[in-house]
Amino acid sequence: MRSVISRLIFSKQSIPRLNTMAVSGNGRYMTTDSTKVDEPFKVDKESKVEEAETVDVPPPPTQKLLVLGGSGFVGSHVCREALDRGLTVASLSRSGRSSIRDSWANHITWHQGNLLLPDTLKEALSGATAVISCVGGFGSNSHMYKINGTANINAIRAAAEQGVKRFVYVSATDFGVANYLLQGYYAGKRAAETELLTKFPYSGVILRPGFIYGTRSVGSMKIPLGVIGSPLEMVLQHAKPMSQLPLVGPLFISPVNVTAVAQVAVRAATDPVFPPGIIDVPGIQRYSQQKSS
Ligand SMILES: NC(=O)c1ccc[n+]([C@@H]2O[C@H](COP(=O)([O-])OP(=O)(O)OC[C@H]3O[C@@H](n4cnc5c(N)ncnc54)[C@H](OP(=O)(O)O)[C@@H]3O)[C@@H](O)[C@H]2O)c1
Repeated sequence: MRSVISRLIFSKQSIPRLNTMAVSGNGRYMTTDSTKVDEPFKVDKESKVEEAETVDVPPPPTQKLLVLGGSGFVGSHVCREALDRGLTVASLSRSGRSSIRDSWANHITWHQGNLLLPDTLKEALSGATAVISCVGGFGSNSHMYKINGTANINAIRAAAEQGVKRFVYVSATDFGVANYLLQGYYAGKRAAETELLTKFPYSGVILRPGFIYGTRSVGSMKIPLGVIGSPLEMVLQHAKPMSQLPLVGPLFISPVNVTAVAQVAVRAATDPVFPPGIIDVPGIQRYSQQKSS
């Protein structure tokens, strides 16, 4: 070490010598270690030349994402986002592929199944590394509890049993008075959330959007929900304090774009350091604006 330092101080050739140092791809420094630094590097035929060690780095394993309700409004955007990110994507719903005509849909493996009949889930779950559930719906209170709660609880349990690593549930924000009017819906959502945090404490993510806008495909028809949602989002993003008001506050919760929900859902399902827990509307907006790795 002392001789290296003294050479650096006293030798005029110290700068060229430093230039013979290179950084290898794996971050280790490589040097020709020749004292004749001004001569071109020669290989002595007699001496043994050690070959650089090659490290066989395997390609990143393909992640298989299962989207529950991939034929629906939010689910279809999640499927597209996941395909764009290079994932292998499957969907499960009662109708299978449903009426989606777009070409991207040809790249999805469509399964028919019903979350209320967990046995019909097994095949779709096989080999899945992550699941995003976009299953939910409205109707009578008991129906809403079943579809938002029981159906998703079944899916969470089946995924945990099959060793799925990450699970994302598209839930819904609290709307104050609406919670009372849609008791089954919210009771179901909260029951499924509790199950998710129990079964996936370190890798379960709950998204709680309010109104979601975007283009809803019904067969070959496209319904532009953004006509109302987009300007409303711009206005309400600047009215955050209003959403804290008692009773009427939730009416001021900003709508979110379906693409933002899909981006955050896919990131939460695939990024191992994405924090587990509940992501509210401002959180969805914030994460969707961040560049993911
Ligand atoms: N849209 C919004 O503004 C909004 C706002 C806040 C939260 N959310 C939540 O976001 C989620 C997605 O909403 P969305 O608007 O995309 O709903 P959607 O268009 O009605 O899609 C629901 C999906 O779930 C499937 N599904 C329903 N019951 C099922 C069952 N028993 N087994 C398997 N699949 C089933 C449906 O397909 P099949 O009918 O073919 O089975 C469909 O693919 C829901 O949880 C909803 O509560 C939506």
